[in-house]
Amino acid sequence: MINILGAGLAGLSAALTLAEAGIKCRLISAQNSERAQSVLAEGGINAALDTMGEGDTTELHFEETMKGGAYLADPNAVRALTDSAPAVVTKLAGLGVPFNRNPDGSLTLRSFGGQKKKRTAFAQSSTGKMIMTALTDEVRKYEAKGLVIRLPHHTFMRLLTDGVQCSGVRIKDTYTGTFYDLSGVVIAALGGLNGFFPHMTTGTVTNSGTAAAVIFAQGVKFANLEMIQYHPTTVGIPGKRCLISEAARGEGGRLCVMKDGYPMYFMEMKYPELGNLMPRDVVSREIFFARRDQGDVFLDMTGIPEDTWKNKLSDLREEIMHYFPLDPKKDPVPVEPGIHYFMGGVYVNANHEASMRGLYAAGECACQYHGANRLGGNSMLGAVFGGMTAAKSASVYAGSGSEDMSVYSGEEPLDCELPAGSDERLGNILLNGLGIVRNGNTMKSALDRLNEVQCATAPEKVRKELGRAMLLSALGRMESRGAHYREDCPDTLDAFADTTVTQLAGGTVRVTFEKIPERNTGNGNNV
Ligand code: FUM
Repeated sequence: MINILGAGLAGLSAALTLAEAGIKCRLISAQNSERAQSVLAEGGINAALDTMGEGDTTELHFEETMKGGAYLADPNAVRALTDSAPAVVTKLAGLGVPFNRNPDGSLTLRSFGGQKKKRTAFAQSSTGKMIMTALTDEVRKYEAKGLVIRLPHHTFMRLLTDGVQCSGVRIKDTYTGTFYDLSGVVIAALGGLNGFFPHMTTGTVTNSGTAAAVIFAQGVKFANLEMIQYHPTTVGIPGKRCLISEAARGEGGRLCVMKDGYPMYFMEMKYPELGNLMPRDVVSREIFFARRDQGDVFLDMTGIPEDTWKNKLSDLREEIMHYFPLDPKKDPVPVEPGIHYFMGGVYVNANHEASMRGLYAAGECACQYHGANRLGGNSMLGAVFGGMTAAKSASVYAGSGSEDMSVYSGEEPLDCELPAGSDERLGNILLNGLGIVRNGNTMKSALDRLNEVQCATAPEKVRKELGRAMLLSALGRMESRGAHYREDCPDTLDAFADTTVTQLAGGTVRVTFEKIPERNTGNGNNV
């Protein structure tokens, strides 16, 4: 019996892979799949399908993913990801995802950031919702057969571990309040740390990030925590930030500032090759500097043709019109960067094995595919493929673990609500140190403020330690690379071309740098 924590894209993909192999799993989640963060993913999923006749290849997908991530990703993991991508997307299409199609029936691909070829398959700009619908439905078949045991409305409390081996998980039924100890290996598919930055994130704020913090507090190694992705084009809405998909730029949207009453398209002037579709770290930084030095930045979508709005972006237009009293077909939309994705997470190898035996991680909560900056369209790919790979790795333990759910009736200190406002307080402290542009002084002062925080509950304490790990990772990386831009260390240095690894041991957060694995030769396709 294998326990999967999280029923978003990575969790569903892991469950489906296990079930297709006849292996039983539990799919444990605080909310149903329909409410997972993956549903919010908009623009698309990358695969070098080359249906647009541009001569795209999986090797180019590999190279651009590595380059976009400033060479901090695990090359073997990325090779397997990019080689398998065409089969992954073809499988999703076979499950009924309504991808946009060309007149000959092949999948339409659009341009996305950091990629010279059209490589992003999409379903208008609701791709995540469509993929989640198809996978949720497919997994239901196996629920009916008893191969997938759904436990929605159950929250993660802790791993069952002696510190070396993970032998199960403690969860709480949020309807009855009963705790259960479940045995078997664990695949963590917990999503990102959006809940560490309420109000600044495009992600779901119902994912508090506390589960990841608990795992960290239990001694599991994390990596690259300083690598936080700011999506260039977001708008503030009550309680969070609303994403304006990169698809808008992929289909012709242009970033500008107003100068003497005329738009100045600063990305196109500075980066003639990729222009508005430079990787996100670059675009977000340019918007940051443009806003600081020249005023408001706008996304000008007025040149997008009518049929593109109708066939590829109609839901995006509706979303913008819902939040703004303006029509993006007619008026530029003011935008600024917002926190969108966490490249770092549980430190795993290309097989998705974590530092604790019996624990695997996949999806946004794992670290290995995106290095210092993720390319748009690679996250859903990483989640689906990561779920598959983690499931295959974990399946060697398929026979271990009981099907019984044993009731735990002792004390559980982690079973507390976060005191009101504590997430916002932590988020504000971290934001001061971990902005788009950082420096040692602001990071140190954020650490000082963090040290002063008095925690009343166990969840607050573990969150504080993971926040400390983010700041210490950023302080330790004394260079600029990908999403980590330090104005006091602006150069990219060979000496830091390593993974930042953090671990809580003996009550202290330690940061080390580990070598990136050597690239194996050969084809990585293992779907
Ligand atoms: O802009 C977007 O549609 C986001 C896509 C992604 O993060 O992969």
